[in-house]
Amino acid sequence: MSASERTHETIHFTDLTPFMGAEVHGVDLNRPLLDADFAALRQELADRSLLLIRGQDLTPESQIALSRRFGDLEEHVLQDFCLDGHPEIFVVSNIVENGKHIGAYGGSKEYHSDLAYIPEPSMGSVFYCLECTEEGGETEFISMFAVHDALPEERRAWLSRQKAVFDYPWNHEKRNAHRPALTQAQIDSTPPVAHPCVRTHPENGRRAAFFSPIWIRNFEGMTEEESQPILAELCAFAMQPQFSYAHKWRPGDVLIWDNRSSMHRALPFDEEGARRLMHRTTICGDRPYLDG
Ligand SMILES: [Fe+2]
Repeated sequence: MSASERTHETIHFTDLTPFMGAEVHGVDLNRPLLDADFAALRQELADRSLLLIRGQDLTPESQIALSRRFGDLEEHVLQDFCLDGHPEIFVVSNIVENGKHIGAYGGSKEYHSDLAYIPEPSMGSVFYCLECTEEGGETEFISMFAVHDALPEERRAWLSRQKAVFDYPWNHEKRNAHRPALTQAQIDSTPPVAHPCVRTHPENGRRAAFFSPIWIRNFEGMTEEESQPILAELCAFAMQPQFSYAHKWRPGDVLIWDNRSSMHRALPFDEEGARRLMHRTTICGDRPYLDG
């Protein structure tokens, strides 16, 4: 067996790319995983940032049960787009039925790590594809472990001393002026929060870069004007093709990603003509930190 394959009990893993992602073989996610197999899955997610399990016919109950083994689940604020009877499952879709959208439109077209603008950002998500298009609609990921490790040494040392101020209302005003203004309650619930720009992965101790082209207003102790050009330089570095993997969806695919060591974005597709239907669960996380 080569270094790009690993077997644990009944589960077999193969690398999706040299730097991130593993495909998981030999599991039916409608059956509860043995504790030892789940531990291997969890370890693989921590190390590879992204897991792909193909050919699943996942029930909402199974998706929720699997997701809960990673941690508590977020219940989305947009209750309109949660699956009936399953507030843990958020429906992402462009499909219209009886004149109404059945789900939220696809995710952000800008790279991000989910809920990075709150004190305890989401650990990760389980994303299940029921219907998708032949063309476009990929989800593209960046390994922030790989970005961290490849940064020029001086920049990496500088970054490890910085905290970034994530400011959701500021970002909304700057980038989403075409959308309805946030309510005062939404503004009050998302005060600016500072996170370390390099974070320690709590399960394997590896360091990952932690920044994104959206939400960050400034580095702590610096102005917005001083910070934005450096952030743009960092994002341009991170968005090089050698750090990214674009997942082309097939119905029955389940992707599990780790927000603690990756960013992702949605690529466009024909939202008027094609159908896309996904079920997402979102796993709660802890406060980011940097050891040592
Ligand atoms: Fe996202």
